[in-house]
Amino acid sequence: MLIALLPGDGIGPEVIAQTRRVLEALSIDSLDFEEALVGGAAYKATGHPLPPETLDLAKRADAILFGAVGDPDCDALERHLRPEQAILGLRKELGLFANLRPAKLFPELADASALRPEVASQIDMVIVRELNGDVYFGEKGMRTTADGKREGYDIMSYNEDEVRRIARVGFETAMARGKKLCSVDKANVLETSQLWRDVVIETAKEYPDVALSHMYVDNAAMQLVRNPGQFDVIVTGNLFGDILSDQASMCAGSIGMLPSASLDNAKKGLYEPIHGSAPDIAGQGKANPLATILSAAMMLRYSLDHAQEASRVEAAVARALAAGARSPDLGGSMSTQQMGEAVLEAL
Ligand code: NAI
Ligand code: MG
Repeated sequence: MLIALLPGDGIGPEVIAQTRRVLEALSIDSLDFEEALVGGAAYKATGHPLPPETLDLAKRADAILFGAVGDPDCDALERHLRPEQAILGLRKELGLFANLRPAKLFPELADASALRPEVASQIDMVIVRELNGDVYFGEKGMRTTADGKREGYDIMSYNEDEVRRIARVGFETAMARGKKLCSVDKANVLETSQLWRDVVIETAKEYPDVALSHMYVDNAAMQLVRNPGQFDVIVTGNLFGDILSDQASMCAGSIGMLPSASLDNAKKGLYEPIHGSAPDIAGQGKANPLATILSAAMMLRYSLDHAQEASRVEAAVARALAAGARSPDLGGSMSTQQMGEAVLEAL
């Protein structure tokens, strides 16, 4: 099986290098790695953030492990040349419509959470966020109203097929965990949300074993801080999911700890840490590679049928933390490479 490694820019190459070592240490016979440029690194070498050969590799591969993009040297470029277009382009081109973000607090890191340890320790959930629709992809523009004022607009819409396929991912994810699904919307004001809720309720008939609930997004934001332990799986749209998943990540400690998967209808996926390219610490060996290593574990489980190795990697991360491995974001002083070595040793 072929893994596409797309390190990107900033701390991306640093965290991918340690993750590759961990994957190689598993000695899985059938794994091949191929690396390609993406984001700012690709723009500087080829003039495009997602060059055709990178997209081609991503299409050929069984799974993609992505670092991060967001080189500030590219800030002044037109929108279509900016590094972030590479990740949006990959999601769209590969039909990766479901974003899974587990948020769980390693007990060793209870002090790192923004919440009180006794509240934070309850967190063990997955947010399933729709990734290809909603207000991000609707018609957008800038116009001048009759009285000469500038007006920006972004259309929010979902059709029922888009809702149904993400709802199914939500239910399937719940089936594999605690069998509780909370659908988050704003059905008291938005038509999009009314359709969302109707379709989720229809889909629930296929999953009689899952306990379904509904919550308005503003209440969900509050509940995530008040009592995060009540959630098992949340399914929600692109905009609400973007915000809630970042919020949930802070409940679970450092941004350097959290993995994610972006999946299509089959088994292909793109796996990446939830953080960006962290230009403020890039090139200094300060980045925490654990989010990327945990993303690789998700890749082994969902796309490569190596659930046992996935669990080995996760257990090794827990053991490394228990043994005191701490990068600066976790209050320690270990370098990116030392963190990688701590995981290798635990493995
Ligand atoms: P960021 O996630 O890159 O950094 C936020 C803060 O967290 C920084 O202080 C950074 O040093 C710290 N941080 C992030 N990852 C860390 C790690 N592994 N270990 C230790 N500390 C870590 O978000 P920011 O600063 O908003 O964005 C920087 C660039 O990254 C922007 O150009 C943004 O567009 C891009 N970005 C890219 C993403 C992607 O590639 N999927 C996702 C989010 C942002
Ligand atoms: Mg975000």
